[in-house]
Amino acid sequence: MIAITGANGNLGKATISFLLKKTAPANIVAVVRDAAKAQDLADAGIQVRVADYNDPASLRKAFENADKVLQISTASYGEPAMREEGNVVQAAKDQGVKHIVYTSTLTPGEDVHFLAARTCNNTERAIKASGMDYTIFRNSMYLETIPLFIGSAMEDGQVYYPAGAGKVSFVFRPDIAEALANVLTSEGHQNNVYNITGSEAYSFGDIADLLRSEKAMDAAYFDIPADAYRAELVKFEMPESEIDFYLSMAHSIKAAEFSRTDDMLERLLERPRLGIREFIRSI
Ligand SMILES: NC(=O)c1ccc[n+]([C@@H]2O[C@H](COP(=O)([O-])OP(=O)(O)OC[C@H]3O[C@@H](n4cnc5c(N)ncnc54)[C@H](OP(=O)(O)O)[C@@H]3O)[C@@H](O)[C@H]2O)c1
Repeated sequence: MIAITGANGNLGKATISFLLKKTAPANIVAVVRDAAKAQDLADAGIQVRVADYNDPASLRKAFENADKVLQISTASYGEPAMREEGNVVQAAKDQGVKHIVYTSTLTPGEDVHFLAARTCNNTERAIKASGMDYTIFRNSMYLETIPLFIGSAMEDGQVYYPAGAGKVSFVFRPDIAEALANVLTSEGHQNNVYNITGSEAYSFGDIADLLRSEKAMDAAYFDIPADAYRAELVKFEMPESEIDFYLSMAHSIKAAEFSRTDDMLERLLERPRLGIREFIRSI
């Protein structure tokens, strides 16, 4: 059986939809926090089990009889994120899971700018030390985050972001989901680390150019100071930890932590991936 954590989230749900094309629903366990939100999965014949990354006992129960676990990285920040992800790895190990597949980020490291990448680094280490077979997807930024990054630019074309000329190898989330489903239902991916990226990397200036060419918008990119960006985030009354997280993302992009490209995704999909031009046209 294959257990999918974060099964009510975007990537988890999409992965399950691709898994259903490759295996029977009875082989899939959807691990969720809120079973009421997973009624569609239960109706499809998938076992829904409730667990929280903060509750090791619930995780162990959720992974009962699972040979493989897809560990979707947490949405938490900082120390809680490290603890939650460690709990998932430990529970999988305790339950004798043979193979864990983990959604990491493109440049994990102890001292990298992106705060989530420090968590991912910690989790990758725990997975490698666990003795389970593993496959690590080091995902670049989703194409779907572009509208979130550029905010009101979707209306007026004015892109304000403190990323300099830093480039991102944006990748389409459903393409990642399909590749995850392929890996979870085939052999030969044990103890591999895959960089999952778009075919090219684009700066926010390039995105403004694409808004001009693909959406006929009068677009421009303004590389604003990080302090000005912070001041904007403060207006949204975000907790300080969340503000630090978003700032770390901008610094990370500027420092080229999301710029690498790799053709692994196309090899896993055995077809071309969706490109940024097509995506921008669709939004
Ligand atoms: N590469 C990128 O551009 C990018 C962008 C955003 C996020 N991410 C990372 O990739 C992950 C998957 O992306 P996504 O689009 O699927 O994100 P998403 O839609 O926010 O889904 C995250 C999932 O994680 C679950 N989760 C969070 N905290 C949990 C906890 N304490 N216990 C159990 N489950 C928990 C959520 O459960 P609920 O449904 O109950 O809330 C949700 O199902 C994210 O969690 C984040 O780490 C990557």
